[in-house]
Amino acid sequence: MITKVTIDNMADVYELQKLFNVVFRQKDELIDTLTTNPYVQLYTYSIDKKVVGFIEYSIIYDRYELDNIYVLEEYRNKGIASCLISFMINEAQDNNITNITLEVRIDNDPALRLYEKYGFVKKAIRHNYYGDCDGILMEKEMM
Ligand SMILES: CC(C)(COP(=O)(O)OP(=O)(O)OC[C@H]1O[C@@H](n2cnc3c(N)ncnc32)[C@H](O)[C@@H]1OP(=O)(O)O)[C@@H](O)C(=O)NCCC(=O)NCCS
Repeated sequence: MITKVTIDNMADVYELQKLFNVVFRQKDELIDTLTTNPYVQLYTYSIDKKVVGFIEYSIIYDRYELDNIYVLEEYRNKGIASCLISFMINEAQDNNITNITLEVRIDNDPALRLYEKYGFVKKAIRHNYYGDCDGILMEKEMM
């Protein structure tokens, strides 16, 4: 099940904190974002009420920027990221978004393949974008 995270469903925020300790951001920062930034969209994917993945994207005028997508390791390769990406693409269609962009590490093969499967194409290389590694700018045109 996909659920929008808001400041009002704190249970999800606490669940996310467990994930974010590993890969993302601290609870206080997350709460601050949810409270002050209406352009950030954050959704969780749960199975039997357990949060196992999330997607975060930002609305920038008529563009979406995919900021993060994450699935707990033991739940990967079951189509969960596909559900989350499809959800974002449907939202983009409904909101007349013109394109979706993202940055990904050049060595992140699972993510690169995921994005290509959903129609994102490589647009530019960002040298040393991640310090130790190049980044790839990818774009999906919606129009
Ligand atoms: C990338 C990630 C989100 C994929 O999540 P997932 O739920 O396992 O993905 P799905 O099961 O929906 O797979 C969809 C497609 O992604 C690609 N893919 C996923 N895992 C892959 C792997 N280990 N190797 C190669 N391709 C892979 C495939 O194209 C797959 O389609 P297919 O099953 O028809 O081959 C997950 O590996 C993850 O959380 N990684 C760590 C966080 C991360 O790197 N996020 C991206 C930051 S830019």
